[in-house]
Amino acid sequence: MRKQVIVGNWKMFKTNSSAIKFVENVDSKIQSRDDLVVGIAAPSVMLSDLTKKAKNLKIAAQNCYFEKEGAFTGEVSIPMLQEIGVEYVIIGHSERRDIFGENDDLLNNKVKALLAANMSPILCCGESLSIYESGKTMDHVKKQISSDLSGVSADDVKKVVIAYEPIWAIGTGKVATPEIAQEVCKGIREHLASLYSQEVADEVSIQYGGSVKPENIKDILAQSDIDGTLVGGASLVEDSFLGLIK
Ligand code: 13P
Repeated sequence: MRKQVIVGNWKMFKTNSSAIKFVENVDSKIQSRDDLVVGIAAPSVMLSDLTKKAKNLKIAAQNCYFEKEGAFTGEVSIPMLQEIGVEYVIIGHSERRDIFGENDDLLNNKVKALLAANMSPILCCGESLSIYESGKTMDHVKKQISSDLSGVSADDVKKVVIAYEPIWAIGTGKVATPEIAQEVCKGIREHLASLYSQEVADEVSIQYGGSVKPENIKDILAQSDIDGTLVGGASLVEDSFLGLIK
C-alpha cells in the first residue's frame, strides 16, 4: 500500500533559530505512522540541527547535487545529507528549473544518485500557465517524468514520490480544483503504468502542490490518485502546518 506523504517546503524562509523552535513545538504533535509521512523540507544550513530535534517529522532537503564529492562550489552532496539523517530530497522544483536553469538531464542524474543511496527523491513536475491554457499539461508532465526517471528500475521507482505542482498555482492562491489535480495525478499514474506496470504505478505516492491550505487539503486528499501534498506558504506557521495534518 502506498504511503500518504505530506511535506512542507519552506523554500528560502526562516533562520536556524526559528526553524528549531518550530520543530520543537510541532514534532511531538505529529504521529509517526507506517502509512503516513509528515515532513519539512528546510534550507540545507538548518538540516543538521533539525534532524537532531525531529523524532516524528521527517526532515527533507530541498536540493542536492549528484556527484559524491568534488570541486562543486556551493553544492550539497548526498553523503552529506545521508550522514545527518535526511531521507527525502526535493528534486526539480519549478523554482529550481526556472530560476536556476536545472534541466531534465541533471534531474535524472540527481534522481538516480539518490536512489543509489537508498534515499527518496520527491520529484516535482508541473506546467506553466501557458501550457495549461493550451491544453498540453499531460504531454508536458509525461515528458518531464519520462526524462527524469530514465534508467530508473521498477524496484527503485517505488521509492520516488512524485509531486505534481502546476506552476500557475504556486504561491498565487489559485489552487487547481481537486478535480483538475486528480485528473493530472491519475494521468501520471497511468503514465507510470505504461513505463513500468500497473502494480508498480499503484505503489508510487503522488502529491499535489500549489496553494494547499488547511481549508482545502481535505478535498484534495479525498481524490483517489492524490497521496499527499507539498505545501509552501501554509507550512511556515505552526498552527497552519498542524492544520494540514489534522
Ligand atoms: P505554495 O503552497 O506556497 O503555493 O507553494 C507550493 C510549492 O511550491 C511547494 O513546493
